[in-house]
Amino acid sequence: MIELKNVSKKYRNGTHALNDVSLKVNDGEFIYIMGPTGSGKSTLIKLLDGEEVPTSGSVLVSGINVGRLKKSKVYLYRRKIGVVFQDYRLLPEKTVFENVAYALEILDMPDDKIRKRVREVLKLVDLADKSNAKPNELSGGQQQRTAIARAIAKKPTIMIADEPTGNLDSGMTDEMISLLEKINREEKTTLVVVTHDDMMVMKHPKRTIRIEAGHVVADKTPEPRETETAVEHVEVAEEPVVMEMMEEEPSIPEAAKQEPAAVEVTETPAEGLSEGEVS
Ligand SMILES: Nc1ncnc2c1ncn2[C@@H]1O[C@H](COP(=O)(O)OP(=O)(O)O)[C@@H](O)[C@H]1O
Ligand SMILES: [Mg+2]
Repeated sequence: MIELKNVSKKYRNGTHALNDVSLKVNDGEFIYIMGPTGSGKSTLIKLLDGEEVPTSGSVLVSGINVGRLKKSKVYLYRRKIGVVFQDYRLLPEKTVFENVAYALEILDMPDDKIRKRVREVLKLVDLADKSNAKPNELSGGQQQRTAIARAIAKKPTIMIADEPTGNLDSGMTDEMISLLEKINREEKTTLVVVTHDDMMVMKHPKRTIRIEAGHVVADKTPEPRETETAVEHVEVAEEPVVMEMMEEEPSIPEAAKQEPAAVEVTETPAEGLSEGEVS
């Protein structure tokens, strides 16, 4: 579970990037984070993956207080988090197979296990036939799927994608979301997708947390639709209804209404991250 309790982040230059953010994401959820440029979305990601520490409040992921990890232990924690960056960050000299394998080599996994897992994830993202291609021989969508394969290879509990449709043709968006849904379903990975893409959110509705000027201004879960197929065939005529739903007055999320409860850490911390390891 991800839990932010009254998290604020002020950068050294005085910018208040996040202000008193409280939210909970349960294991196995698939959520969107939306908000204008500069609203604090990337800061939120950086707090989740341990790149930044909160100025106040706490960031708990699977019972680990991320902001209080020792710098030297952050890499251990990151094994639980798979991030797909907007610019993919693939290694240009390595093949697709090697790019994905590299993420496991640094975990000291034995070679035969690495090969098995890489084949498995390349099949999952439908890139088995591109194993030997270099990134510059791939389309944008294929490069992104390589980045997704690399992020999930280590079986993270959480996968974060920053603007995953930013560099894709609109036609590719449905495929990409279907792939993330498959990962969420089959690998049981919690998905946090940062996006600007209203169209994608309308077509594939999911819990959506909106951030503005560092505040959570809305946290809405759509009504369940009747069937999966209904979700895939959203008619243009239906869109205004969804728009209306999304333009409602911002509501205060439940978590923010409650008194902050005592920190309750029930889940088992990751290997090597026992309580003695936090600073
Ligand atoms: N390292 C940093 N130092 C100072 N200010 C920063 C830093 N990173 C982001 N900011 C500022 O914090 C605010 C939120 O930025 P960011 O989290 O990147 O927003 P978003 O991803 O929603 O565009 C912006 O005003 C941005 O300029
Ligand atoms: Mg950003």
